[in-house]
Amino acid sequence: MESKLTDVVSISDFSRKDIEAVLKEAARMEKMPLSEKAKLLEGKVVASLFFEPSTRTRLSFETAIQTLGGRVIGFSNAKVSSTKKGETLSDTITMVAGYADLIVMRHSIEGAARRAAETSSKPVLNGGDGANQHPTQTLLDLYTIQKQFGKIDGLTIGMLGDLKYGRTVHSLLYALSKFKDVKVRLIAPESLKMPNQMVEETKSTIGIKETENVNEFLPELDVLYVTRIQKERFVDEFEYEQIKNVYILGKEILKSTKKGFRVMHPLPRINEIKTDLDSTDAALYFEQAKNGVPVRQALLNMLKDVKK
Ligand code: CP
Repeated sequence: MESKLTDVVSISDFSRKDIEAVLKEAARMEKMPLSEKAKLLEGKVVASLFFEPSTRTRLSFETAIQTLGGRVIGFSNAKVSSTKKGETLSDTITMVAGYADLIVMRHSIEGAARRAAETSSKPVLNGGDGANQHPTQTLLDLYTIQKQFGKIDGLTIGMLGDLKYGRTVHSLLYALSKFKDVKVRLIAPESLKMPNQMVEETKSTIGIKETENVNEFLPELDVLYVTRIQKERFVDEFEYEQIKNVYILGKEILKSTKKGFRVMHPLPRINEIKTDLDSTDAALYFEQAKNGVPVRQALLNMLKDVKK
């Protein structure tokens, strides 16, 4: 990276210029012939350490590594690692940094990625740490928005669902606060609202309004970013059962949205977006997931020779 970033831990560490450099590199990756791309990580080993379940993040990272000519080591289930025997995260990371050139990691504990980055002599890319942040998801979300609208400045973006525990919307809110004239509409039940501190830290640069009612802001939205209710983060299962069906959206919402409106979702979805929306022009979520590959190729290529 041209910037001083040595890891991808939090989107808050990125300036607007850093974000734009990643989006530009991702666009270059999309256009680059496979034969040329296949040399970029030649001879490099990337560790893929998934202490928490994943489909898209892990598989798109591993696709990115392999298409760039790198090799992957790692695990997709912490139960088959020595974590099960009680090894600390710091010891695991110190070991793995001796085997690999880059480390991709997902962990259930908030702050685990920061700890890993501080411990590791090699760049660490955060694939999600608890309910905290998911910066590589945010970069692919921004890439998707930029591709669809040709810009990020000036858009009105709704975020709906579990804004308390959803790490994707936390990172996205911080990222959008770096752009100009962006309006954000936070749509969540009282108990799953965006943490107040995050609203406080971003509201000086983005226009934020909050509601529980999805219909209130629909007509003004360019994008509605839907999230699932994060069952795994609830301490009380009864509380989850009470709230799990709070928003279920189908193509009927398109009667009140403006031209060019799009629905995004980091996926997996449970029932918050009905499948009848999938075949409409508004559905951007599968395209969004696909964009994970060029964006993660970009990040790996930009960080591969970083010295810490
Ligand atoms: N969007 C996302 O993080 O999906 P996975 O949990 O499948 O990686």
